[in-house]
Amino acid sequence: MPNLSTSTPSVREAAFRFRCIACGDLNDNASQNFRCRQCGDLLEITYRGWKKAEPEARNLKGSWRQRRLSQSAVDQSGVWRFREVLPALVGDAEVITLREGNTPLYELPQCARITGVPRLFAKHQGLNPTGSFKDAGMTVAATFARLSGFRWVACASTGNTSASMAAYAARGGMRSLVLVPEGKISWSKLSQALDYGAVTCQLRTDFDGCLRLLQELVLRAPVYQLNSINPFRLEGQKTLALELLEQLDWQPPDHIIVPGGNLGNSSAIGKALVEMSDLGLISHLPKLSVIQAEGANALVRTLREAAGKRLISVQAETRATAVRIGNPASWKKAVHVLEATSGACEQVTEIEIAQAKAEIGAEGIGCEPASAVTLAGLKKLVKQCFVKPEETVVLVLTGNLLKDPDFTMGFHRGDLFKGSADEGASAALNGLRRPPIVLDATLEAVIRTLEQAEK
Ligand code: F0G
Repeated sequence: MPNLSTSTPSVREAAFRFRCIACGDLNDNASQNFRCRQCGDLLEITYRGWKKAEPEARNLKGSWRQRRLSQSAVDQSGVWRFREVLPALVGDAEVITLREGNTPLYELPQCARITGVPRLFAKHQGLNPTGSFKDAGMTVAATFARLSGFRWVACASTGNTSASMAAYAARGGMRSLVLVPEGKISWSKLSQALDYGAVTCQLRTDFDGCLRLLQELVLRAPVYQLNSINPFRLEGQKTLALELLEQLDWQPPDHIIVPGGNLGNSSAIGKALVEMSDLGLISHLPKLSVIQAEGANALVRTLREAAGKRLISVQAETRATAVRIGNPASWKKAVHVLEATSGACEQVTEIEIAQAKAEIGAEGIGCEPASAVTLAGLKKLVKQCFVKPEETVVLVLTGNLLKDPDFTMGFHRGDLFKGSADEGASAALNGLRRPPIVLDATLEAVIRTLEQAEK
């Protein structure tokens, strides 16, 4: 493919450093576990001299848009076309890309009616190459893993990170090691990791146990960790917000609502918003709100019971297995972005998640259960008058409908809540169910069914 990269950057490529989010210690290098050498807290990537670059920064909007017309892989990537606000690559290093990003922003007319918020949109990150938002972070972190000379990359995962990591490792000629909780992730996600060639270990623990083990492993073996503790992941995931703002012609929405699990994505989106504001690319900050499943509500409890000062871990349990996380690694970063953007944090029940997922599906879009917490959460935020009817709201749908067919089939067949405490209450959702109908193969039977459905 000819290299037609439109790389005339208007702002210097970003020279970066690692900064500890707690003690502020600055470093040019990060340790294997991406923790501060002084105090052990998480690191973030910072850039020098951005505020001064403000007038030049305005030209970026044009360059970023123009790159979409290019045939070069780095320009076609919805992540790397924003490369001036990403860590700079050295020399002519090649990126590992599956042309991630560039995901659509959809109107949600039916959900808008249900919630009473007419200007309601969904940014569908489930339409990334491996079916989740993880790809935007993985292209950056996998590229830097290879640049650092690693042969092995590894992650702990509830499924999507492992699918994404395995794909990018394979594309980049690296081996990958996946640690997932046994029996608690969907087959679709597990099958992706297998197909992309990962060494996949199902550990007899939960996600939090897998992540703890990985943190020890990276200190003992030459493997590069690709969880969202890795700050390169969050830099890539920032581009979700840039792309969204571009799609809204740089008029910030009033609210962005995102699911919260390990809390990397909310942290990344919030960081992007603050940086765009610093660069003068947007006039004001949208409120970024995080929604959690009630059974995995560590951030909700941390804010309500400890005023965001110390983490309150929980024993996580939810059918939205992607966010079945009780000890979120990036909780401090998430608290910080909630404060910076004046966002809210809410929790939603299993029934509310199932209902919202079916409502998004009925729009012809669909998403996985963890993504549907956003719509369920919006309903609560409207009730609390935190979101007003005249405001513009964007829900971030993080994963594809096909990521968890068991949940969808269970819902429509009516067995999702069977035998659980929610069984009685779930009857209220019967109107949303569309179970498959088994018929004799006769014209009459099909016509009768059609007539029945018309009633
Ligand atoms: N939605 C989906 C579909 C996810 O897969 C995840 C996280 C989240 C939301 C939460 O995002 O962790 O950044 O707050 N999945 C991880 C994984 C943890 O291993 O795939 P977060």
